[in-house]
Amino acid sequence: MPIPTSFSTHPTSQAMAMKSPTVHMLLYTVALMAVMAVADLQRLEHPVKADGSLSFLVVGDWGRRGLYNQSNVAYQMGNIGEKMDVDFIVSTGDNFYDSGLVDEDDPAFYDSFTNIYTAPSLQKQWYAVLGNHDYRGNVLAQLSPVLTQRDNKWLCIKSFILHAGNVELFFVDTTPFQDKYFTDTDHTYDWRGVLPREQYLTNLLKDVDVALKESTAKWKIVVGHHTIFSAGDHGNTQELVDKLLPILLENEVNLYINGHDHCLQHISHANSQLQFLTSGGGSKAWRGEISRWNLDEMKFYYDGQGFMAVEVTESEVHLTFYDIFGNILHKWSGSGHKHSVM
Ligand SMILES: *[C@@H]1O[C@H](CO)[C@@H](O)[C@H](O)[C@H]1NC(C)=O
Repeated sequence: MPIPTSFSTHPTSQAMAMKSPTVHMLLYTVALMAVMAVADLQRLEHPVKADGSLSFLVVGDWGRRGLYNQSNVAYQMGNIGEKMDVDFIVSTGDNFYDSGLVDEDDPAFYDSFTNIYTAPSLQKQWYAVLGNHDYRGNVLAQLSPVLTQRDNKWLCIKSFILHAGNVELFFVDTTPFQDKYFTDTDHTYDWRGVLPREQYLTNLLKDVDVALKESTAKWKIVVGHHTIFSAGDHGNTQELVDKLLPILLENEVNLYINGHDHCLQHISHANSQLQFLTSGGGSKAWRGEISRWNLDEMKFYYDGQGFMAVEVTESEVHLTFYDIFGNILHKWSGSGHKHSVM
């Protein structure tokens, strides 16, 4: 983790600071902004099963007080979660609609999370990132340890690394990448910790790249809210195609998992082993906007609600998409090489 040069250890800054309290304040502010702008890639560890395998569920775009089939998705996640004995749950963001949480006491936390995902098998650790709708609320509230005290399965961090046996998951805060949120005059975004933006993005990309290069995990999975490639309503996210995708390809990432488009989707990259997986069917769906896509790449698209299950063993990764009735919509297995084992 890169530690920014602190003003107090910088001799010139210190000398100047002693001379003038105004300069001191200014330097302090600059140093504080530098600290905040550094992507803090915290590292977490999650134990795997006795046989070394790992399984988890992925849900995105969900918090609507149970409405739009959110409760049905939750119920089936509970069933499948029990059958698979899942180790944890990943949320791809847009955790609370329409505008994140107001503060730590926002009842939406209970109404859309705690009192919805009630099945015993879902009382595991949740690892969540933020979506663009979360940024419209009080971002610090979702990241607050107070929520974890209230419901200990909750954990939301902007960007972090999760190590679990032979798997490493890299969670990336994708909202600040998209230009349009910075010119959007209809909504306000809580950019605390993100500005100055260019520095934040540069540091984040560098940290992800370095962490991927240092990783010795057999399976490298990157999770973000926004799509890289998608045939859904939002479509591709050009900023991520330009800035994040080259890093994923260079470091032979196996899976990129996202939400944002309210659908379930699997696109295979034409020239590598990378799979693009959208699990954004946690509540409101059925948008009915689907673009044409190369059929060699498009493995699966479902416009309705559901979630994805991932199982990783030493030699294979297995993906399964489920609808709200618990039906299997799509299955895929990969060995980590270009061609999948079916
Ligand atoms: C809930 O799911 C059912 C089955 O897929 C679907 O027919 C219905 O339209 C969904 N309701 C909403 C509000 O999306």
